[in-house]
Amino acid sequence: MKGVILAGGTGSRLHPLTRITNKHLLPIYDRPMINWGIEALVNAEITEIMLVTGGTHAGEFLRLLGNGHEFGIDRLSYGYQDRPGGIAEALGLAARFVDGEPVLVMLADNIVERSIKPMVDAFRAQPTGGRILLTPVEEDEHLRHLGVPTFDDRKRVVGIVEKPERPDSKFGVTGIYCYDSHVFDVIPTLVPSGRGELEITDVNNHYIGQGTMAYDVLEGFWGDAGESIDAYYAVNDFVRTHGANKG
Ligand code: G1P
Repeated sequence: MKGVILAGGTGSRLHPLTRITNKHLLPIYDRPMINWGIEALVNAEITEIMLVTGGTHAGEFLRLLGNGHEFGIDRLSYGYQDRPGGIAEALGLAARFVDGEPVLVMLADNIVERSIKPMVDAFRAQPTGGRILLTPVEEDEHLRHLGVPTFDDRKRVVGIVEKPERPDSKFGVTGIYCYDSHVFDVIPTLVPSGRGELEITDVNNHYIGQGTMAYDVLEGFWGDAGESIDAYYAVNDFVRTHGANKG
């Protein structure tokens, strides 16, 4: 299985910090944010990774990560998104790198307390389709910033709404996704959303419509450090006290 780490975007929610660097290079406790995502993938035994970034600070990733060997990566490739076209568009840049294999996609501002290996192993045993990782979220105000699933009475996910005004469940979709290589046929069929981006939620809804999307519920802390300056500090506080990516 290949891994794709998405580390682009303008980081406008963290301005002015992100005027001088890429969001994913800001510190989370004792290291740059991107290092936690790399560690999450390597711990899940994904060692062929493509990092997709964009904007003006892209060269810093090479300076930080080099060929990746120091971090347990066998093969580290880099992709460059030349406009803010969305998460799904950024993933599309990895098509040739993924080359027909299943792929784990992680948004590099997502930080998890516990290892993602159980989800990855479950997908390794699942021949086709997709797999998403949900996290319980209590507050509607928080859910309004996330993708939120709707369940049927058999607890199957029947759809995801991106940033809903009225959240239909108490779960958020984390930025950690597994797909079969068919995902690269889905991305070209997407149309830009209201925010002018190709949405990963539309990819997920495609798999849900096909009946091939599975899900896991994450145990432990999850945070999106790019969501707001308060979320950034909440993630920092958590990781400083409790760590991340634990077995
Ligand atoms: C993205 C996804 C959203 C998901 C979130 C998790 O949101 O679109 O569905 O819940 O990541 O971090 P964005 O960060 O682009 O607002």
